[in-house]
Amino acid sequence: MDLPQEKSVSINPDHENLRPPSDLLRFTTAGSVDDGKSTLIGRLLYDAKSIFEDQMEAVERASQGRGDPYVDLALLTDGLRAEREQGITIDVAYRYFATPRRKFIIADTPGHIQYTRNMVTGASTAELAIILVDARKGVLTQSKRHAFLSTLLQIPHLVVAVNKMDLVDYSEASFNRIVNDFRAFAAKLDVQDVVYIPISALLGDNVVDKSENMPWYDGSTLLHHLETVNTGTTRNAIDFRFPVQYVIRPSQDFRGYAGQVASGRVAVGEEVVVLPAGLSSRVRALVTFDGGQEEAAVGESIVITLEDDIDVSRGDMLVRTRNLPHKSNRLDVTLCWMGEEPLDPRASYWLQHTTHSVRALVSEINYRIDVDTMHREQASTLHLNEIGRLQLTTTEPLFFDPYQINRATGNFILIDPYTQNTVAAGMIRDRSRQLDELVDVTSRGERPSSDNVVWEQGTISRAMREQLNGHKGAVLWLTGLSGAGKSTVCRLLEQRLYRMGCHTFYLDGDNLRHGLNGDLGFAPDDRKENIRRVGEVAKLAFDHANLVLCTFISPYAADRDFARSLVPEGRFYEIYVKCDIEVIKRRDPKGLYAKALAGEIKGFTGIDAPYEEPQHPELIVETDLHSADELVEQILAALRRDGIVGE
Ligand code: ADX
Repeated sequence: MDLPQEKSVSINPDHENLRPPSDLLRFTTAGSVDDGKSTLIGRLLYDAKSIFEDQMEAVERASQGRGDPYVDLALLTDGLRAEREQGITIDVAYRYFATPRRKFIIADTPGHIQYTRNMVTGASTAELAIILVDARKGVLTQSKRHAFLSTLLQIPHLVVAVNKMDLVDYSEASFNRIVNDFRAFAAKLDVQDVVYIPISALLGDNVVDKSENMPWYDGSTLLHHLETVNTGTTRNAIDFRFPVQYVIRPSQDFRGYAGQVASGRVAVGEEVVVLPAGLSSRVRALVTFDGGQEEAAVGESIVITLEDDIDVSRGDMLVRTRNLPHKSNRLDVTLCWMGEEPLDPRASYWLQHTTHSVRALVSEINYRIDVDTMHREQASTLHLNEIGRLQLTTTEPLFFDPYQINRATGNFILIDPYTQNTVAAGMIRDRSRQLDELVDVTSRGERPSSDNVVWEQGTISRAMREQLNGHKGAVLWLTGLSGAGKSTVCRLLEQRLYRMGCHTFYLDGDNLRHGLNGDLGFAPDDRKENIRRVGEVAKLAFDHANLVLCTFISPYAADRDFARSLVPEGRFYEIYVKCDIEVIKRRDPKGLYAKALAGEIKGFTGIDAPYEEPQHPELIVETDLHSADELVEQILAALRRDGIVGE
């Protein structure tokens, strides 16, 4: 038996590269604490003798201390877990053990309620999933969910380990009942290989050693199955994708890009393209801790240097010239929701894809899947652990491959921008590609995407235009109640900027609702779409180095955040035009409040529709306390302070 080298049995999964893949099996376990997952892992490590003596003694002592007649193996894994959880941020720990036949990496996914999350993050490179079923409880919804998730994640091998057989008197009938139930369900899934094994993790039956208590079972033990299952790697060895994690520049003469080869391989001298810029160069060298090498393949962590000095940053992706990923800002996805709070279809989330983050909005929820029946259900949200199909729109195009073809560039997570929690894991479906083409020829006005087209850079950059203009571009977003004075302040501001020789571009709520947004009303979704379009237009005008003035009630924080996310940090000014609502009602410049109060206008902001006050605006200007002239001065002072406009 090989013993792990270090005291801890957790290792960096990259060590996989040191061995040929057939020598190694990555697997994951699904099941809650009650199902005996910890005990099972402990039993595997224990019986395969992959535990250190001192750890074992500690476990034995602790078990005896509790008066248990047997060694409580869960203590072993739980102990390791406690250690690990002090590290806080790790979602998944990779535990390593070996037998003479094979090396194993277990993506151990702790947690009880959040099993979906743990499973999704832990399983994305697994080749086999063990689904634990309690022999007394049978196939529960949770087991089905685990199996379904495993197939969504395209884990090719499933093992249904029917655990706690000792508690059902090792009954063949109980086992068969569970096998039949599971089979009926698995028939609806896209899975080829399911193996059923009756075990007792606690007592060791059929885990490593064949059980004498179940003579009726003539299949493999769990470990034997793990040792012999066919493992062709599930990683994509063809399409070279290298998401840049860090730019390394120790001196003027060296510029390297560090990261992990997500898929495929690359060699010195080969031509590569940097996305999104679309610039190409050749690989000058591939550097690791051990020096240079000629080639690097999937899973390897390396530093790449290029022959040309081009601008590459974190989040960019290096690919081969004639093997480009897809590009789209509209994604057809399968999403597993793992947030405690349900999905808010109106919110914008951070979408983390490889080393790159963009903002994402839900444009459609197609359906939710009932995991008991596998039926599609209509849904307006997703709750914890629910799985659905959705359409997402991102603020910038992503470069991706469908999950089916490339797990590494086809998966993503969603992060709540306020809590920073991971709230969903997703897989990009193949249809996204067709959407991509649709976007390109319609609203985006880009060349239709095909495999041989890369992102087209404009020849005149914003920076060049800013130089010509003598001031920087920025979006000044005035938000506040109708009648608060947004337009008054803005008109005056624009006059001042004009006299200063600045280029402005004015977008006003009422005006745009006559044209571009003439099809929209005031329901929350219409307002969201209103702001989405305006945000996009503001971004275009910003890209042309304008000072973009926007006056929209924009009552929802998430919509304003979306508009903010479209421009670089420091260039978006959320200006809260504040005024006491009683004062506004008295002024009532358009007579709308009178109508709203009389019930003639429904859903009027401030009367019977909400206004979410900005929590961290760049500026607050109060129209009931200061004159418009004074407020314009306040805004100009901020722009001068930040170097957007000159003195
Ligand atoms: S937003 O909420 O979608 O940002 P927007 O700024 O474009 O609104 O338009 C607001 C203007 O539409 C108001 O100044 C007012 O003149 C008019 N309006 C008509 N109905 C409503 C309503 N129900 N709520 C708010 N404004 C309304």
